[in-house]
Amino acid sequence: GISWTLPDHPKLPKGKPVAVVVLDGWGEADADQYNCIHVAQTPVMDSLKNGAPEKWRLVKAHGTAVGLPSDDDMGNSEVGHNALGAGRIFAQGAKLVDKALASGKIYEGDGFNYIKESFENGTLHLIGLLSDGGVHSRLDQLQLLLKGASERGAKRIRVHILTDGRDVLDGSSVGFVETLENDLSQLRGKGIDAQIASGGGRMYVTMDRYENDWTVVKRGWDAQVLGEAPYKFKSALEAVKTLRAEPKANDQYLPPFVIVDDSGKAVGPVLDGDAVVTINFRADRMVMLAKALEYADFDKFDRVRVPKIRYAGMLQYDGELKLPNRYLVSPPEIERTSGEYLVKNGIRTFACSETVKFGHVTFFWNGNRSGYFDETKEEYVEIPSDSGITFNVAPKMKALEIAEKARDALLSGKFDQVRVNLPNGDMVGHTGDIEATVVACKAADEAVKMILDAVEQVGGIYLVTADHGNAEDMVKRNKAGKPLLDKSGGIQILTSHTLQPVPVAIGGPGLHPGVKFRTDIQTPGLANVAATVMNLHGFEAPADYETTLIEVADN
Ligand code: 3PG
Ligand code: CO
Repeated sequence: GISWTLPDHPKLPKGKPVAVVVLDGWGEADADQYNCIHVAQTPVMDSLKNGAPEKWRLVKAHGTAVGLPSDDDMGNSEVGHNALGAGRIFAQGAKLVDKALASGKIYEGDGFNYIKESFENGTLHLIGLLSDGGVHSRLDQLQLLLKGASERGAKRIRVHILTDGRDVLDGSSVGFVETLENDLSQLRGKGIDAQIASGGGRMYVTMDRYENDWTVVKRGWDAQVLGEAPYKFKSALEAVKTLRAEPKANDQYLPPFVIVDDSGKAVGPVLDGDAVVTINFRADRMVMLAKALEYADFDKFDRVRVPKIRYAGMLQYDGELKLPNRYLVSPPEIERTSGEYLVKNGIRTFACSETVKFGHVTFFWNGNRSGYFDETKEEYVEIPSDSGITFNVAPKMKALEIAEKARDALLSGKFDQVRVNLPNGDMVGHTGDIEATVVACKAADEAVKMILDAVEQVGGIYLVTADHGNAEDMVKRNKAGKPLLDKSGGIQILTSHTLQPVPVAIGGPGLHPGVKFRTDIQTPGLANVAATVMNLHGFEAPADYETTLIEVADN
């Protein structure tokens, strides 16, 4: 069996409360007008950065440092929090799917063989995010799966698309639809009845997360499964172009639509005997649809008609819930996370965020595992997020409320670790609204202040970091770093994450005076944080963890 007992750290004491603060979407970049963190008043984060150089440093938060296929891949919250919590680098969903497609193993597994039974008499439905963002899904993987499934007997295929504009530039949906339409027409040339059946913007249709707003998933269900939507078009290209032309329309929030035939009938509702694959590899925004597709008992909305289908996820999204039961590619096995170790070594843990990031500091932090390790030692608090709005209209979000909970948890003396995620930089950054993102960064900084003040009061330690960049760069740039202009001379707003490194700052009255960042680790990343936090709790990390960022000078 696994030995859960962590060795004592030779120099660092136990018993100091540790606050772990994750600023979502808070990278480090050169100062200019598109760096909202720079533009915003952020005195607390500035003071950490400009304080003792051995207490602040940068770490990698993208690409191979967090288990993504290449260093061209920007970071994201899933892989970032996985790395922060697990202390090791696991090949992540994007990479595992790439491998399974390249080797062909995806077609040999139980998941594919299961859905394949529907190919003879039913339709294969593929539902997911259509872009090359690589955060939740990837277009090239969808293309390969279409090809592979059709070569293995799928005769009737319907694709249900969700337009992006969040992990990729707004407006790019049109090009992705063109590419997909082209592939589907080639399949039709080979005698396969393949077409896009429905669509909608990811933030308005289907891809809600952490049960913030089930009406989002219902809109998707109606279009994808029932074949019903407020807008009907003859083709997806026409749909996306027409809906984008509406005032204030954008890819993230396109309304749901269905594609209809000449008689006005939806071309691809999901029917008894069909197969469904949700093509996203990332869990958080597919779990809700997976539940609607899989659970017999379901009361989140009226499904009206529940077809008898063979359903598989691209990955299994929740190992604890075994959801979905069938999947094409096995997810990374992220086990022995720092959260589990620390709880088993007596560390009483408090974790908190608001709904839209709640699972990040719980589910993702704990290796894509829902629930507590030990209820008697852990408390996870979710502050309800505003729903039905875009966060640029309320950019302070619940930062203050999260900080208050963290403060109270620290002052209560009931917890050894108080862990929070402050979503502002990321959630507002994704809207592309620069002014609002500046307000968001200021609010996050104020929240950090409240938490650090509480750390001060209880004689504790803090570690402040981020999961990936976003708010520090809001413009698309050329290779030389110059902002790219669109056809009309305006800047191209960057709604997505970035490739930038993120800060790690440590301090607090409880920090042993000899602690400083090591200078001998070449390119540390987020995975080095877990061992560091274990040290701050007075433990040595397990031998296979990425090395700690700190050392202790004798003085
Ligand atoms: C989202 O799901 O909102 C974006 O695709 C990625 O953002 P996150 O990785 O910060 O959650
Ligand atoms: Co984000």
